[in-house]
Amino acid sequence: MKARIGIIGTGWVGTSVAFSTLLAGHARELWLHDLRIDVAEGEALDLADGAAFYPRCEVKAVPLAQMREADIVVLAAGRNGRADESRLDLLRDNARIAAGVGRSLTGFGGIVIVVTNPVDVLTRVVRSASGLPPERVIGTGTLLDTARLRQRLAVKLGVATQSVHVQMVGEHGDTSVPLWSGARVGGVPLRDWPGWQPQDEATLAQEVRRAAYEVIKRKGATNHAIGLVTAELLGCIVNDERRLLPVCRVQDDGVALSLPALVGAAGAVAVTAPAMDRAERAALVTSSDVLDRAFGTLAA
Ligand code: LAC
Repeated sequence: MKARIGIIGTGWVGTSVAFSTLLAGHARELWLHDLRIDVAEGEALDLADGAAFYPRCEVKAVPLAQMREADIVVLAAGRNGRADESRLDLLRDNARIAAGVGRSLTGFGGIVIVVTNPVDVLTRVVRSASGLPPERVIGTGTLLDTARLRQRLAVKLGVATQSVHVQMVGEHGDTSVPLWSGARVGGVPLRDWPGWQPQDEATLAQEVRRAAYEVIKRKGATNHAIGLVTAELLGCIVNDERRLLPVCRVQDDGVALSLPALVGAAGAVAVTAPAMDRAERAALVTSSDVLDRAFGTLAA
């Protein structure tokens, strides 16, 4: 079933989300909005010119207010970070945008996907400003961190990514938590895999945490991987796939962070408590505290 998908922000990330979503065929209508109206219109015209090469979808620029008529709205507006900034450094600039979009979506009947960084805190800002239920305000969270880790593990072990089962949880950022204790290669625990070394865990985790900075240092932003990840999340919702994905949503304690949740047409509904060892549990508490303190600075 195809959906009416709206994307707010047609910069690096928003246009990559649009492109990936069109190629995946998840939308019957794709609406774009940007404060720079001419840019949104130009992106819509440009994407529409490629209509022969993706499944049928009408692409157009629309006013912000029209986004309330979409099935799913993706927030990708805001400034992207420099290589010397953490994602949390973007908070003050982008929180204002997220709160405004949240307010404009009060009473919205669909699902909001937050991509703009710092995605975890802004997911909480949008949920609060919109008053929508937590399961219908979903941040891409550690979906991208998990994808980056699975890809690096697959290359290191010489196996297909599809056979690498590991998740990162917590903050999409410097305190993200890889769940090594539950990692599997096929049915084999990663820690029993021939040649796996304990030090590989710290090395790979740091590579994943540095990944965005290495890209930003060279090209000024990341956009393609997050565009693909967001399109994958859109497909899971549009097709009601009910997959367990590490996405960000406001948890029972009020903090928005990523834990595996059941994702489908109703949003990110049942959150699961993945098996964690003592170190992973402590790292998740640290991640949660960092995010809760960051949100608290907004009230200051
Ligand atoms: C990254 C951005 C999306 O990790 O935070 O590429």
